[in-house]
Amino acid sequence: MQTIIQRIEMDQELSGQLKEAARILQNGGLVAFPTETVYELGGNALDPNASAAIYAAKGRPSDNPLIVHIADLDALTVLAKEVPDTAYQLAEHFWPGPLTMLLNKSDIVPKETTGGLETVGIRMPSHPVARALIKESGVYIAAPSANRSGRPSTTRGEHVIADLNGRVDMILDAGHVTIGLESTIVDLTSSVPLILRPGYITKEQIAEVIGAVEYDKAVLKRRKDDTIVARAPGMKYRHYAPKGDMVIYKGTAERVIAVINSLAAEYAANGERVGILASDETAERYQCSTVLRLGSHDDDEEAALHLFDCLREFDDLGITKILSESFDKGPLAQAIMNRLLKASGYQMVELSQ
Ligand code: TXA
Ligand code: MG
Repeated sequence: MQTIIQRIEMDQELSGQLKEAARILQNGGLVAFPTETVYELGGNALDPNASAAIYAAKGRPSDNPLIVHIADLDALTVLAKEVPDTAYQLAEHFWPGPLTMLLNKSDIVPKETTGGLETVGIRMPSHPVARALIKESGVYIAAPSANRSGRPSTTRGEHVIADLNGRVDMILDAGHVTIGLESTIVDLTSSVPLILRPGYITKEQIAEVIGAVEYDKAVLKRRKDDTIVARAPGMKYRHYAPKGDMVIYKGTAERVIAVINSLAAEYAANGERVGILASDETAERYQCSTVLRLGSHDDDEEAALHLFDCLREFDDLGITKILSESFDKGPLAQAIMNRLLKASGYQMVELSQ
């Protein structure tokens, strides 16, 4: 398949630039485009064939539901069977933005879009390109993150081109996204709302608006434990995974630096290509040719923004062993550690003093 790659000029009027993309969506085709969280691979959510094509292009298991992206609140009553007050309260505070709500689906949403489930994930993204494209096409857009299944999500047009060129009809490149982590997913169909995936909107922020909210057990998981099964089907798969074997080291900075330096030397001597995922504070203390900085330990937003870039860069550099610090400070710590733990297959070593 020939993929049209179009650069979007953010400082110019958008709807004119999105005509071709809108036409492709209306005709059942697939378009990858930016949202504020990560890039997404979109198709018509009400067209079962478009959903099937998304699974095929990503190489994604078809029991893993897609999020439906909307541009106005009226869509809620079209896509959901009933809309609880909590949904409107959350929408008022966090939409457009990085929050996905799970509701019971209406009959017009095909099972192909929801991975066979009776619930549907709905999000109103805030990125101007996403908003303009939903409006211009008049289509509710079903979309997963725009990466090959299992690979780190994509935060720049180049990443999307690397993963999906030749597999989709069109890729819209509008530069780097602004958040870098996928949306928070909150299930409003359970008796107490449940966070199935932590993201930029925190549990505390949600609790301020609707009161009680809990984490799904799988979100709090800190080690490999096959008895804890995630309620979001996608969260059970190996995910966000770089090609190299990754281990996270947690402990005091001095101890982590000492252990990582010693292991890095040992692995390099054994012929491994070693990469270290460090912070601005510690990067210069590692003796290794590949040290990537996630950002400062005091700036969780910056770390979130660079996370997938760094994981992808390790792949581009052919790194076979990744030694990572743990990033567990700030409101986004839960979301960042969730991605790092999944990327490492839950390999985290807690270092004693
Ligand atoms: O920020 C985001 O949410 C990005 C951008 C592109 O919008 N999208 C995204 O989609 O991360 P995806 O497909 O990579 O991840 C969606 C997650 C999966 O883990 C999926 O299993 C879960 O949401 N999910 C979607 N609908 C669900 C449902 N009805 N019930 C349970 N889990 C659901
Ligand atoms: Mg994804």
